[in-house]
Amino acid sequence: MSWNPDTYNKFKSERFAPFYDCLNLITIRQGINVIDLGCGTGELTRKLADALPESRVLGIDSSKEMLNDSKAFENEQIQFELRSIEDQVNEITKYDLVFSNAAIQWVYNHEELLPKIIAMVKPGGQLVIQLPDQKQNLSNLILDKLATEEPFASALQNWNRNTPVLDMERYAQILFENGSQQMTIFEKIYPLVLKDSDALYDWVSGTALIPYTERLSGETKEQFIAVYKERLKNRFPKSPAFYPFKRIIMEAKF
Ligand SMILES: C[S@@+](CC[C@H](N)C(=O)[O-])C[C@H]1O[C@@H](n2cnc3c(N)ncnc32)[C@H](O)[C@@H]1O
Repeated sequence: MSWNPDTYNKFKSERFAPFYDCLNLITIRQGINVIDLGCGTGELTRKLADALPESRVLGIDSSKEMLNDSKAFENEQIQFELRSIEDQVNEITKYDLVFSNAAIQWVYNHEELLPKIIAMVKPGGQLVIQLPDQKQNLSNLILDKLATEEPFASALQNWNRNTPVLDMERYAQILFENGSQQMTIFEKIYPLVLKDSDALYDWVSGTALIPYTERLSGETKEQFIAVYKERLKNRFPKSPAFYPFKRIIMEAKF
């Protein structure tokens, strides 16, 4: 999937807010080994490292485009590597803190993925993950439905994103079954106050829309975008447009 850091960075403060909630859940310890799964441009990896004195932080991401910006955030504490989360979870190295902000929703099969991520945490270590609750967010639901309609379903060859995001109760159960008895899991609404529904389109175009538009071309792509914008406008007709963006945050100790 081709990410565009410029589009992604358009809504920095809105995208950073859940990161700070994650940061507040971290047990601050000196000199720990940390991994940031799906670190993006690395800007938040740097903030994470700055909050953990003398830690060594590895940020991994599968997007060259996003990692291109990470040079600016490197220092003696931090290293970035181009690698997928799927590959990283098969490595044997364990970490004191496994962290991931707004990334694992892009990896399928959380029933299998989460135990593998948990296995990356050292005994006595911590896991902190944030991900959007795509099953409840209207911008995702509208996209999902549109992809099932013609002419888009045929153009997409019946492909649809089918979010891998589970209910938070299920994440809690998986954390427990894999060794955690101490956890904090909650859903939170991050209010997005945007100029209008077109601004909401801009927000989605930096993330959830990408896998759809990169599978479409020409007139069909234009039409998909136009109909999607229209549906957002019908659902969010006011200016400013208020969008209650729901996210799941989980923290567990092992
Ligand atoms: C919404 S961005 C979040 C970036 C960063 N964590 C932040 O909070 O700013 C999602 C990131 O996940 C990365 N990503 C998506 N699928 C991935 C995968 N399978 N393996 C590694 N990174 C992935 C994308 O390249 C992108 O940089």
